[in-house]
Amino acid sequence: QVQDDKESMFLVLKWAAQWYEDQLKTAEGKAIGYSYFKERGFTDKTIQDFSLGYNPDEWSALTDAALKAGYKLEYLDKTGLSIVKEAQDGGTERKFDRFKGRVMFPIKSMSGRVLGFGGRLLKNDKKAAKYLNSPQSEVYDKSKILYGIYESKQAIAKEDLCYLVEGYTDVIQLHQAGVKNVVSSSGTALTTQQIRLIQRLTPNITVLYDGDAAGMRAAVRGTDLILEAGMNVRVCTFPEGEDPDSFAKSHTENEIKEFLKGNAVDFIRFKANLLKEEAAGDPIKRSAMARDIVKSIAKIPDAISREIYVRESADILGLGEQTLFSALAQVRNAEI
Ligand code: CTP
Ligand code: MN
Ligand code: MN
Ligand code: MN
Ligand code: MN
Repeated sequence: QVQDDKESMFLVLKWAAQWYEDQLKTAEGKAIGYSYFKERGFTDKTIQDFSLGYNPDEWSALTDAALKAGYKLEYLDKTGLSIVKEAQDGGTERKFDRFKGRVMFPIKSMSGRVLGFGGRLLKNDKKAAKYLNSPQSEVYDKSKILYGIYESKQAIAKEDLCYLVEGYTDVIQLHQAGVKNVVSSSGTALTTQQIRLIQRLTPNITVLYDGDAAGMRAAVRGTDLILEAGMNVRVCTFPEGEDPDSFAKSHTENEIKEFLKGNAVDFIRFKANLLKEEAAGDPIKRSAMARDIVKSIAKIPDAISREIYVRESADILGLGEQTLFSALAQVRNAEI
């Protein structure tokens, strides 16, 4: 039963993705959805490669079309494509499109099955969320998916490196610019399951987060989990106010590649430098920062790497190596 349910959900998701794509060719879809993507600088090939689409700005355009094509309301509801309101005292059941009036980004599994969608508002509007995502379901578990993994897996394996970005359009714009080894955690904190997906393809990750305070915090937050997986992590931050999308749009392929190569720094080094700045001239903060960096180093499974990082961090922070080594021993003992 559960298996049948999942199959039915996959079928309607696949059908919906194609229907959303087709809407870009209708008069409304062309004027609204397709022009939105064009304004963002997406080419026809990019729109095609990422199977982008549009949900008309009507209450139940997708829902009605799906029912007419023979798909059951049960699965439109379970996949979250539609919102079903049960009948109340004698009234009739009502059904709506969840993604009414939004441009659609299908989210695919490693093997290319459509698992869900991200839908973006056309205009930034303070009353509604800029992006709406499929609700958690038997097939859409946001902690296990990475946007772009299907489109990028070959390039990730070939380059032996995966760039990790925050958003859908960061993946798409980098791809279009020729940097095709990139996936997005879609604004959520990175999970161990997501890291495992990448690890099947490469041990090397470079985190590219937005050049704003939230991006900085996110870059530091997700990263201990990557260290724990024994992967090599680098961080590359963007100029203030830029994200990979805006940066890629205003630079050539060579400039982007040069920037990524020239600005990616080893994560532990990045964190040590960040801490050093924060604690500058504050002796109380210095001991907190020592513990903080040691906590990250303690996650690294390989003992030789840990030792190298301790020596380098001591150097950056201006602390004795022995101080850091004994702090490391304490943290590791406490965790075992
Ligand atoms: N996000 C979300 N819901 C929101 C805002 C953001 O799910 N209300 C997720 C999306 O996956 C988004 C990512 O977080 O792509 C990064 O957020 P942000 O940087 O604000 O968006 P951008 O990707 O830069 O989107 P855009 O360029 O379209 O404005
Ligand atoms: Mn297609
Ligand atoms: Mn941001
Ligand atoms: Mn962004
Ligand atoms: Mn953006």
